Formats: sequence, structure tokens, C-alpha cells
Amino acid sequence: MVDVILGLQWGDEGKGKIVDFFAKDYDLVARFQGGPNAGHTLYVNDKKVVLHQIPSGVFHEGVINLIGNGVVLDPITLKKECDTVASFGIDLKKNLYISERTHLILPTHRALDKAAELSKGNQKIGSTLKGIGPTYMDKTGRNGLRVGDLLDRNFTTAYIKLRMKHQRLLDNYNFQEDITSWEEEFFDALEFLKQLNIVNGEYFINDHIKSGKRILAEGAQGSMLDIVFGTFPYVTSSSTISAGVCSGLGIAPHQIRDVIGVTKAYCTRVGGGPFPTELENETGEELRRIGSEFGATTGRPRRCGWIDLVALNFACMVNGVTKIVMTKADVLDAFEKLEVCTAYTINGKQTQQVPFQMERIKPQPVYKGFDGWHTDTSKIKDYSNLPAPTREYVDFINQYLGVNIHYISNGPGREQIITIS
Ligand code: GDP
Ligand code: IMO
Ligand code: MG
Repeated sequence: MVDVILGLQWGDEGKGKIVDFFAKDYDLVARFQGGPNAGHTLYVNDKKVVLHQIPSGVFHEGVINLIGNGVVLDPITLKKECDTVASFGIDLKKNLYISERTHLILPTHRALDKAAELSKGNQKIGSTLKGIGPTYMDKTGRNGLRVGDLLDRNFTTAYIKLRMKHQRLLDNYNFQEDITSWEEEFFDALEFLKQLNIVNGEYFINDHIKSGKRILAEGAQGSMLDIVFGTFPYVTSSSTISAGVCSGLGIAPHQIRDVIGVTKAYCTRVGGGPFPTELENETGEELRRIGSEFGATTGRPRRCGWIDLVALNFACMVNGVTKIVMTKADVLDAFEKLEVCTAYTINGKQTQQVPFQMERIKPQPVYKGFDGWHTDTSKIKDYSNLPAPTREYVDFINQYLGVNIHYISNGPGREQIITIS
């Protein structure tokens, strides 16, 4: 059986913390998409760690971690991250596996990402510039190189061929930066990568399923950044929704049991693109300050706003969410009044549906107001001890979405989570 944890908003919902919290109940944690554009924060012995490539189950003894075929892998980031993880006494030879079908991010992919963003001017996506888009383009364009190719003696020839192709594209963009040092680091990191456990990921995971092991699939980014169902073109380049689990790991749909969707008690977005409930005012700044809303990968300030139930409902629908985790509820402790978006007004008409584009038509949020709770909730352990207004807020969201919040995260720490039975 496979359970999935994924983001329901525009990323940074707190997936890393939640995966780390649940990981002890699983035998294997697998990333199925995305790459080092992800930044998943967790606390290990009160020390903050941000993971970009390695699944968030890595700090649990006896839990195996798999970088699945749907991921795009930057060997340089991976090597650095392995060093960090190893400094906690984790033996990656024992608990990290990488699928041979996983596509490699080359230095020229990163350069192409940068060149493409620059060429977009004020319509830029706000990419993390980690080479994600160009690598997925080479995957679907049938050009890319995969982790398994590393073990082939013709790898260097294939690399040079692809590099030349990329150079022509970079010349078209008039990209001038010297990437020699990136390439040196890359080849150095490839030698490191070759020493890790490279496996046939689809047999590896299906063998685990057959022998009754419990598997947790960890999403990166969020549903509203999905290549198809997100706010295109302001999205990432992978399938971030539950459908991506099957193609990103090589498992059948009927193996999936719970789809656990993670949402903040409010909403954030980093990078460009539509964000109907964004607060470009003092309240937005308060959310950013209290919630420490700065990107875990790029350090950029995150755009902040109220929770958007129209978008959340859409995300629950396309993912088939069975349980919800609401994170950062404690951040709302300080607010006197809260607002919840229950509909959009588009051209004077109200709708509860997410339109296929939100860039030209700018949906205006319709809000329902709630009283804040003005209590420090960060130390509360039982749902019944939460203030009545917090429970009203949760009840309303449950009713609206038709899926229940089963857990409330009330702080960044591993144990700061309330289970609702
Ligand atoms: P991810 O990408 O979904 O894993 O999320 P990030 O790690 O990018 O961002 C979430 C941030 O919120 C991190 O700094 C977490 O330590 C922090 N965080 C997670 N859950 C909570 C919570 O319940 N309360 C508070 N105050 N912070 C949280
Ligand atoms: P986690 O897993 C938040 C955003 C970028 C940009 C867009 C495309 O930590 O939730 P890309 O680098 O993929 O070409 O960027 O997607 N983005 C994220 N935003 N959290 C993430 O990951 C993100 N990964 C990408 O800011 O707007
Ligand atoms: Mg993040």
C-alpha cells in the first residue's frame, strides 16, 4: 500500500515537516517528481535541515528513501546534501536509493533556465533557476540523460553531444556566462553519485509493495504549480498531483490508499503568477513576518494571503484527497480578524470554480470573515483544548471541502502536531 503526502497550494505548505512526522510509520519514503527547486524544512534534534533532493524520511533509522524516476536530479546539490545528512550520522549507503530512470540536470540546463527567464522580461516565471524546466523539456523532447546512463562507457560522448545542442540554444539567447566551474563540480559530483545505490526503481518499489511494506510518496511543489492543472504558465514542469505518483514511481493507481493533502491555514506563493487572495498590505506583511515566509531554496520573500477555498477545493478534486493536514495554524494566533475565500467574482459573476487561466481575467476573492482566537496555540496537544474560534475555522473548511482536516500543525517542531480523532 502506498500513501501520498502532497501540497495543495503553491508549495511550501510544510510537506517536509509532515513527511518527517509520518515517516516512522512507513518502510520506504519516495520522491516522485520535482528536483532541487524543492526546499523541505525539518528539524532534527532541534537543528534545522532543508532537503532539496533527498526524501524527508532520511533521518529515520530503518526507513529506506528512494529518489524516483519522475524526479530530476542535480548531482551537485545531491552531493552537498548527502554530506549534510551524513553529518547527522546517517549511512546513505544503507537508506538512499536512486532510480536509474531519473533524469540528470546538467550545468547547461541551469544555464538555459537562466537564459530563458531573462528573455521573458516582466513575464518571467520566477523560476528557482535550478534547471528544472530545461531538464523536463529534454525528457519529453527525448534528449535527456539519465542516472543509469552514467554507468555506460559512452556517457561522456552523449554528454558532449547534448552539451553542443544546448550551446547552440544558449548562443541564440546570447548567454555569455562561463560555466566551466559548474561543469568541473558536475563531473566531480557524478563520481560521487556512481558510488550510491542506483537501482531499477520500478522493480524496487513494486517488490516492496509485494512484500507488504508501507510506502509513503512525498510530493514537491504544490497542486497549483502542477504543469497541467496549475496556474499555467506560472507553474513548474512536473506533475505535482497524485496522478504523478504512478508515472513518477512506476506503480499502479490501485496501490494508492490515502492522498494526504497539506495546506497552510493561510496561503503563500513564491515567484510570479496569479494569486487571488494575495494581501499586498500590512496584513500580508504580518503573515510573512510571523510565519517567517522566506523561500527555503532561494530566500526570496513569499507572497502572503488568506486561505483560498476555491483553489483548495479544486486541488482536493484533482488529487482525490482523503485527508487534510493544516499547517502553520499557530501563525494565525496573532490576528484579530481572519478571512476565508469562498468564491471568485469574475466579470461580475460569482463562481466556485478555478478558471483555466487567471492572468487575463483577474478573479476577485469573495470572503467570509472569522474571529481570530488570540491565544498561543503552539503548545496545545489536544484538539478539544484549541480555542472555539479555531475549531469553528476548521469546521467551516471541512464543510466547504467535504474532506476533513485530520491533523493541525501548530509549530515547526517535529512534535508540534495535533491529531483530530
Ligand atoms: P515544504 O516545501 O512544503 O516542505 O515547506 P517549507 O519547508 O518550504 O516551508 C515551510 C516552513 O514552515 C518551514 O520553515 C517550516 O519549518 C515551517 N513550518 C512547518 N510547519 C509549521 C507550523 O505548523 N507552524 C510554524 N510556525 N511553522 C511551520
Ligand atoms: P517546495 O517543494 C514553492 C515555484 C518557483 C516558480 C515556479 C517555477 O519547497 O514546495 P521552477 O524552479 O520549478 O522552474 O519554478 O515554481 N516553485 C516553488 N514554489 N515551493 C517549491 O517547492 C517550489 N518549486 C518551484 O518559485 O514560481
Ligand atoms: Mg519549500
